[in-house]
Amino acid sequence: MPDVTRKILWSVLTAGTALATFSAVPARADDPSADLMARGEYIATAGDCVACHTAPGGKPFAGGLKITTPMGDVVTTNITPDPDHGIGKYTEEDFEKSLRHGIRRDGSRLYPAMPYVSYAGMTDGDVKALYTWFMHGVKPVAETPPVTSLNFPANLRITMGLWNMVATSETPETGDSATFDKMRRGKYLAHALEHCGTCHTPRNIMLSEKEDSYLAGASLLGWYAPNITSSKTGGIGNWSEDNLVEYLKTGHVAGLSQAAGPMGEAVEHSTSHLTDDDLHALAAYILQVPAKDDEAEHSPREQYGKPLEQADVRSGELTRIDNLAQMDGAQIYDANCAACHGGNGAGTADHYAPSLFHNSVVGSARPDDLIMAVLNGVDRNAGGVHVHMPAFNQSSDVQRLSNAEIASVVNYVTATFGSGDHGVTAEQVEKMGTELPKTP
Ligand code: HEC
Ligand code: HEC
Ligand code: HEC
Repeated sequence: MPDVTRKILWSVLTAGTALATFSAVPARADDPSADLMARGEYIATAGDCVACHTAPGGKPFAGGLKITTPMGDVVTTNITPDPDHGIGKYTEEDFEKSLRHGIRRDGSRLYPAMPYVSYAGMTDGDVKALYTWFMHGVKPVAETPPVTSLNFPANLRITMGLWNMVATSETPETGDSATFDKMRRGKYLAHALEHCGTCHTPRNIMLSEKEDSYLAGASLLGWYAPNITSSKTGGIGNWSEDNLVEYLKTGHVAGLSQAAGPMGEAVEHSTSHLTDDDLHALAAYILQVPAKDDEAEHSPREQYGKPLEQADVRSGELTRIDNLAQMDGAQIYDANCAACHGGNGAGTADHYAPSLFHNSVVGSARPDDLIMAVLNGVDRNAGGVHVHMPAFNQSSDVQRLSNAEIASVVNYVTATFGSGDHGVTAEQVEKMGTELPKTP
């Protein structure tokens, strides 16, 4: 079940790709105060509402993204203020009930693919600001996305009421969240807004996050959201607050780690837009989350490896080779990766292409994220920087690698620069390649 469970969380990964920036309508004289509007927009960004409520290439907040869940595909709804297609008829009370309790305006239950369990922790003031911004700052879109139709018994929304009884919701914070001290603000950001645990915390059989394993690592559709507790061996206990701030702001810390897949999306659409004070609060809170050692990782994953001694001299051009079938891992690496990551694995001098040693993805005992990065590439826009690594899957426009070739290059990379050869097989790669999102 855990594998399927993660499909709920696919959303953030698929959503962002073709997103426009929030389309705000110009402020009118009768509009609510600029402060309230600005706060609402900021909360929407921190809560990353756009990630799920926008279809790939679709209009912001108009819904239509399919989220694969163990029960079937749940389609996100239009939450623009259009009265007929969106939430234009919602009162603030209706909105609050959806957001914090998972109850829709007509009284029916929302599926937990909407993270109301996390948003339940929002303060009244922030719910108000969010509501105000949605009603006045978001452009109405007169489109109704396809309706979710699940099979029995999940089609009975009432079953979600039972789920709610066993799922543990956040308790709403009280007071003005802008005045919280650093640690309380960090906790608020991590739990009620950014919902880091949605991906990084393993779930129990009822699909709820395991409270005693907060941020201890979990897989989601091929990717693995690693242990980010303060464990010095399995988690990020050796990271400084500045390291984590830089990671959340840019998606990249040279010699340590970078954010691809769902994390790249979270950085692009949400964390990179937070203020420095909020990033420091969030980082300080995350770094004191109790250590939970990892069953697979026994040594800090970012500390593995050293440059390969005999470096190849490369022209910097990508080599095109048409018959890779006979090549071993080292040759596949030289032909497809070395142009950017260097024959010796040290990356480019400006760290645009990262070094593969001292890289937590390569040093991890779980090769999942490395395989997913080779299959799907990396594409992230954050802080005005666009990073791009091509995909090597069957729709690659650079070089298609077979599953066996990807397995060999992955084994070569971890054996040479990381924690050893993990014996990845072509079947494993194939399985991950088919766990791609279903989009409308
Ligand atoms: C991880 C994905 C995800 C995120 C993030 C998310 N939502 Fe949702 N939301 C959903 C899904 C899925 C539904 C529809 C659930 C259903 O059909 O039962 C939904 C439904 C809703 C509804 C009910 C609308 C209706 O149909 O009447 C509201 C309101 C809403 N979301 C607001 C928000 C706001 C505000 C945010 C950001 C603070 C947000 N959502 C973030 C997935 C998400
Ligand atoms: C949508 C799912 C998702 C959400 C939400 C999410 N993460 Fe991640 N996170 C991932 C995945 C997947 C990776 C692995 C990325 C990679 O391999 O490039 C990751 C990687 C990381 C890493 C790098 C760890 C390492 O050892 O290299 C850190 C740190 C991190 N996340 C922190 C956070 C924090 C803090 C939050 C909340 C603000 C958060 N994440 C929210 C999925 C998520
Ligand atoms: C055109 C240049 C280019 C090529 C070719 C290339 N990479 Fe990358 N690689 C990058 C860039 C850019 C990043 C992203 C850096 C960032 O996230 O800031 C990256 C990221 C990575 C990461 C980190 C992924 C993660 O989850 O965070 C790994 C591992 C990696 N590359 C391995 C490879 C392997 C193996 C190959 C060959 C099959 C390869 N790369 C080919 C440029 C390239």
